[in-house]
Amino acid sequence: MGVMVASADGHAVVDGQAGGLSSPADRTLYRSLRTASDCCLVGPTTLVAESYSTLLDPHQRERRESLGLASEPLLATISRRLDPDLAGLEIFNTPGRPVLVYTESGGELPACTSDVELVRFAAGSLTPRACVEDLGSRGLATVLCEGGPSLLGAMFAAGLVDDLFLTVAPLLTGGDGIGIVESALFDPAVALELRSVGRAGGHLFLHYATKA
Ligand SMILES: NC(=O)c1ccc[n+]([C@@H]2O[C@H](COP(=O)([O-])OP(=O)(O)OC[C@H]3O[C@@H](n4cnc5c(N)ncnc54)[C@H](OP(=O)(O)O)[C@@H]3O)[C@@H](O)[C@H]2O)c1
Repeated sequence: MGVMVASADGHAVVDGQAGGLSSPADRTLYRSLRTASDCCLVGPTTLVAESYSTLLDPHQRERRESLGLASEPLLATISRRLDPDLAGLEIFNTPGRPVLVYTESGGELPACTSDVELVRFAAGSLTPRACVEDLGSRGLATVLCEGGPSLLGAMFAAGLVDDLFLTVAPLLTGGDGIGIVESALFDPAVALELRSVGRAGGHLFLHYATKA
């Protein structure tokens, strides 16, 4: 699954973050999708730009625990060069929180207090598919990709996204900001099937499935 919020002209960022596009209902959507997921896969640039701290609210953790699940989905990222800024994030400094970092680097992250596991790949072999396969081998089948646009683009290019939850904000950013998917041209284009449409205030909530 992928989840993104865009301006009405398709841009993914206002002032360097997605927050200016979001809304309380969009935040609720993100958190409900996370509650239902085994793993949140987020690009390193997004983790840093959005200063990731928590994934769920206490009542959502309780709901998962009551179902016999881990209290939170696992957080995973793919940082081939092992971005050292990750180690400064609150989500990397929460004792007991498991985090997977897929990397091609032989280095180490600066010290952080979450349970961070570095999963190392040989240079040139770390692909989104290899990561999703590794997650599957750990029993983590439901993966929610929260972007950013580069990672989500690579996931779509590899045919790894079956559902896209796209929120459209009532805002035009103009300019040449990044879109919700940044990648080489898809050839053929990825065909989507509209599954549902919702509305809360001025925001539209679109659920697409990718067509086989
Ligand atoms: N509107 C929204 O819903 C939304 C959602 C998320 C983010 N955002 C915004 O998007 C911006 C960040 O997006 P982004 O696209 O620049 O960054 P990103 O996708 O979060 O992270 C990009 C990094 O991912 C790593 N990566 C690993 N495998 C990759 C692959 N196969 N292809 C591409 N990258 C790969 C690369 O780092 P290595 O070189 O270390 O591998 C790359 O530099 C932020 O401003 C954030 O606020 C908006």
